[in-house]
Amino acid sequence: MATEKILVTGATGKIGRELVPRLLEAGVEVKAGTRNPETGRSLFPPEVEVVELNYNRTETYDDALMWAERVFLMPPPFSPDAYNTISPFLDWAVSTRVEHVVLLSGMAVPEIEELALRRLERHLEAQDTRHTILRPNLYMQNFYSGFIARQIGEEGLIRLPAGDGRASLVDVRDVAAVAARALTSTDLFGRELTLTGPEALTITEAAQMVSKVAGREIRYEPIDDAEFEAVLADSGWNDSEVEIILGLFSSIREGGRAPVVADIETVLGRAPRSFEDFAAENPSAWH
Ligand SMILES: NC(=O)c1ccc[n+]([C@@H]2O[C@H](COP(=O)([O-])OP(=O)(O)OC[C@H]3O[C@@H](n4cnc5c(N)ncnc54)[C@H](OP(=O)(O)O)[C@@H]3O)[C@@H](O)[C@H]2O)c1
Repeated sequence: MATEKILVTGATGKIGRELVPRLLEAGVEVKAGTRNPETGRSLFPPEVEVVELNYNRTETYDDALMWAERVFLMPPPFSPDAYNTISPFLDWAVSTRVEHVVLLSGMAVPEIEELALRRLERHLEAQDTRHTILRPNLYMQNFYSGFIARQIGEEGLIRLPAGDGRASLVDVRDVAAVAARALTSTDLFGRELTLTGPEALTITEAAQMVSKVAGREIRYEPIDDAEFEAVLADSGWNDSEVEIILGLFSSIREGGRAPVVADIETVLGRAPRSFEDFAAENPSAWH
C-alpha cells in the first residue's frame, strides 16, 4: 500500500525550504510542491518527492495531492488574488484524502475582513477538514533578501514607510519549526497561532544591529508611501501588491505589529530567535 505523505506547497519559498528538511528530520514522508520542480530537486535530498504545483493550473493538482494526508498551504506573496488563486486548490484538497491543512497567513490578518488572506482563513475554517492557521509577523529574513537587502547593499540605507513603529520580527526558521510541529502531531488541530520574535524593534534599532555585524554604518530613513511605491515598483511589485505592502507598513507605524506573542515559545518549549542573533549569523549578507 502506498504511504501517506505531507505535501508542502510553495516548497522553494522562504518557509517551504526550511520546512521540508524539518519534516524529514521528524521521519515523515514529504512531497514538495513547487512551480519549479528543477529548483526543488536541487534543494532537497532524493527521498523528497518533488512535484509540479501551480495553483493556476488545475492539471497539476492531482499529482501534487496523491497520497497526501496533510498539506502545508502557502499563499503567493502579498497577492490580492490569494483567495481566488488558492480556494480552488483548497477545495480540491479537502475533496481528497487530506485530513489536515496548515495555512500560512499573517499577523493582524483577522483585523481586516476584506483581505484575501482573511477570506481564505474563513473558507478553511468552514471546511470539515482539520486546520491550523499560522500568522507570522514580518520575517527577519527580509533584511537579507529582496528590496531591503538591496537598499542595504547599494546605499547602506534602509528606506521604509515604517515611521518609528516597532515590529516583533520573526525568524522564518521558527515559523517552519512550528509548522513542522503542526504537521506531525495532533497538538495544534483547530489552533490559530500568532508567530512573533521575542522583542519589538524599531527599524533604527534593527539597522544598528545589522551595522554592528556588517562593520559599517547602515541607517534607517523613514520615507512616505509615495516614495516607497517607487521603490516597490522598481522591485517588480504591481499596483495591487503594492497596496497590500503599504498596508503592512501602515500597520507597523500604528503599532499593529509590535505585540510580542508567546505562541512560538509555548509550542516549541524555547524562546524564539532574536534579531540580534539572526544578524550575527549572517555577517556576509551586508558587506
Ligand atoms: N515575507 C514576510 O515577511 C511575510 C510575513 C508574514 C506572512 N507572510 C505571508 O506569507 C505568504 C508568502 O510570502 P513569502 O514572503 O513567504 O513568499 P515566498 O517566500 O516568496 O514564498 C511564496 C511561495 O508561494 C509559491 N507560489 C507563488 N505563486 C504560486 C502559484 N501560482 N502556485 C503555487 N505556488 C505558488 C512559490 O513557491 P514555488 O516558487 O516553490 O512555486 C513561492 O516561493 C504571503 O501570503 C505573505 O502575506 C509573509
